Amino acid sequence: MVFTLKICIIGFGTVGRGIVELIHKKNLDIEVVGICARNCCVYDRNGINLEHLIKNTAGLPLEKYPKADMALDTDKMIDTKCADVYVELTPTNIDHGEPGYSFIKRILSNSCHVVTSNKGPMVLHSRELKQLAKKNNVELLYEATVGGAMPVLNLVRENLRGNSIQSIRGILNGTTNYILTRMAAEGAPFAQILKEAQELGIAEKDPAYDVDGIDAAAKAVIIANEFFSKDSGMKDVDMTGITRITPEFVSLAGKNGFSVKLIVEVSDNVLRVAPRLIKKSHPLAVDGTLNALNLKLDMAGEVTVVGYGAGKYETAGAVISDILSIKN
Ligand SMILES: NC(=O)c1ccc[n+]([C@@H]2O[C@H](COP(=O)([O-])OP(=O)(O)OC[C@H]3O[C@@H](n4cnc5c(N)ncnc54)[C@H](OP(=O)(O)O)[C@@H]3O)[C@@H](O)[C@H]2O)c1
Repeated sequence: MVFTLKICIIGFGTVGRGIVELIHKKNLDIEVVGICARNCCVYDRNGINLEHLIKNTAGLPLEKYPKADMALDTDKMIDTKCADVYVELTPTNIDHGEPGYSFIKRILSNSCHVVTSNKGPMVLHSRELKQLAKKNNVELLYEATVGGAMPVLNLVRENLRGNSIQSIRGILNGTTNYILTRMAAEGAPFAQILKEAQELGIAEKDPAYDVDGIDAAAKAVIIANEFFSKDSGMKDVDMTGITRITPEFVSLAGKNGFSVKLIVEVSDNVLRVAPRLIKKSHPLAVDGTLNALNLKLDMAGEVTVVGYGAGKYETAGAVISDILSIKN
């Protein structure tokens, strides 16, 4: 018997729209029964007509969609239990985790599965949320919170079963990697490249989250809690960003065969984000917005993965992979 998974998407921004477009384009066996934005939801228990939705929401907020119901909100949609899986894609907030934290708690308490790309709740409350999922016998999956399309959590969970991880090291922020790559190629100062990256939409208007190492540190916390059974928070990360890196330093490193990279290091007793010199021949010396992680494992030895940590379809793809893994 064919079983079509029903999902409800919470957050119709870049990633939410990417997911809807990919499910439609690839004709995936996933039925979208609900979509919620901040002020409204769209609900159809027989499955939303995605072609109509995509056509009529291009460049528009969900509330402009004729079938949007302004009387429905996310909490109500969660309590209808209309979906097997709720896909939580609201903005990341690593100070309080809201609104994602409350949504995820509510969904798990209702015994529905959760897939999320939102780092906030997983940085602040991973132990509590994992316990709640276990208690209610449902899945809580969050591959896209670490490294976007680059597989890390599921890679270890599925393909590296039985291995003990000794350490994880690598690049988990594409914006800083892009800036450092261009500083090396052009010998230009940090501030100039940052400004150009902002104009290109690669860096945010408020770049602190990326360039001070906060985003990479949040991912380091998720990794530490996942693989080293920690209950760490942001305060536990020894964090240095890239704002003080000069073109002279990058150039000198280059002449000696090294690239300067913002490196996350996680092991049983290390939780750090800092600029590091990486040999140009090392697999971690990837350029542009790429991410890369090197895992040291007791059985497999070293495994390195490389991929895109952000992007509409890349991130949507990681979320879809988690959704489909629940089905299988
Ligand atoms: N974009 C990426 O490449 C990427 C990569 C990895 C992880 N992530 C994470 O994935 C999540 C989504 O990212 P995004 O780029 O899609 O963000 P986004 O474009 O800012 O979209 C977030 C959406 O959530 C909605 N929202 C806010 N509060 C809500 C509420 N109370 N109920 C329902 N919906 C609400 C927003 O609605 P309004 O438009 O009405 O405000 C918006 O549509 C974030 O946590 C982000 O950090 C993103």
